[in-house]
Amino acid sequence: MTQVATGGHHVDSGTLLLQASNVTMRFGGLTAVNDVSLNVHAGEIFGLIGPNGAGKTTFFNCLTGLYKPTSGEVRFAGEVLPPQPRLVVRAGMARTFQNIRLFHNMTAIENVMVGMYGRTKTNAIDAIFRLPRHRREELASTERARELLDFVGLVGASDMLSRNLPYGDQRRLEIARALATDPKLLLLDEPTAGMNPQETRQAEELIFKIRDLGLAVLVIEHDMRFIFNLCDRVACLVRGAVLVEGPGNVVQNDPRVIEAYIGTPPEELPEAGPAPEQPAANPGEGNADA
Ligand SMILES: Nc1ncnc2c1ncn2[C@@H]1O[C@H](COP(=O)(O)OP(=O)(O)OP(=O)(O)O)[C@@H](O)[C@H]1O
Ligand SMILES: [Mg+2]
Repeated sequence: MTQVATGGHHVDSGTLLLQASNVTMRFGGLTAVNDVSLNVHAGEIFGLIGPNGAGKTTFFNCLTGLYKPTSGEVRFAGEVLPPQPRLVVRAGMARTFQNIRLFHNMTAIENVMVGMYGRTKTNAIDAIFRLPRHRREELASTERARELLDFVGLVGASDMLSRNLPYGDQRRLEIARALATDPKLLLLDEPTAGMNPQETRQAEELIFKIRDLGLAVLVIEHDMRFIFNLCDRVACLVRGAVLVEGPGNVVQNDPRVIEAYIGTPPEELPEAGPAPEQPAANPGEGNADA
C-alpha cells in the first residue's frame, strides 16, 4: 500500500472544521436528534457511539445534506452547509453508509471513478468525441483511482465487479470512493459492521493512515475496542441527545455510557466491570440510511 496525496485541500490541524450547532431532527412526533452540538477539528478522529436507534445515522444524514434538520445549523470550515449532498461533498465532506451503497454491477475501479465525477473539467462534447482533454483526464482519473485502491489495499481487485467482493472489501471500496472526492472530513457509518477481527484491525490501520494524510474522521461504531483505540474524542448519543462527550479514556470509563448500552447502572450489575467490548446492541441492524 502506498501513501497518496489528498489533492488540493490543506487545513492546519486543530482548525475547527465541522461545527454542528443545536441540530434537531424530528419525524412527526419522534425527535430522532435532539439539540446536538458537536465540533470536529482538522486532523482529529472523533467517535460517535450510542445504542441502536440513538440517532447516530440520522445525525450523519443531517450533516451530509440527506436531511434538512428541523432546526439547528451545520458549518464546515466556517461556512454554513447547504442541505444538499452534492454541495456538501463539494465543500469537502464525504461519507460511507451503514448499509453499503456501491454500484454492484460496476467494477471496483469504476466505483472509485464515480467518486471523482464532477471534479473533472471535461464536458459532454469532449467526452462524446473523445477529445484530447477528455482522454488526458480519463487517464489521470484512472491513475488516481488505482492509487486510491492501492491505498485501501484493493488494487488487486480493480477489475472485479463490486458485488463479487467480500463484504469487508466492499466497505474498503466505499472508503476509496469517498476519498476520491478529495474530502477534508470523512464520515464513516459503522465501517467494521460484519467484519471479522482481522478485517477490523485492518480498518483501524486504514483510518489511522487516512488521518495521517491530514483528514479528519467522524466515525460511528458499536465496537468499543475499535472506537477507544482509534478516537481522540468520543460522544455518546442516547435518545437523540449527547449524553457524554470527551477524550476517549474519559468517556470509556463513564458509568452513564455503560448504563446507556446495557440499561442497568454498573453498580447494580452482579459483576460490575469495564465497558463491554461488544455491546448488547446489534450492529448493522436498524433504520435505513436515508
Ligand atoms: N426517515 C425516518 N423516518 C422516521 N423515523 C426515522 C427515520 N430515520 C430514522 N428514524 C428513527 O429515528 C431514530 C434514530 O434512528 P437512527 O437510524 O438514526 O439510529 P442509529 O443510532 O443510527 O441506530 P443504529 O445503531 O441501529 O444504526 C429511530 O427511532 C428511527 O426509527
Ligand atoms: Mg445507524
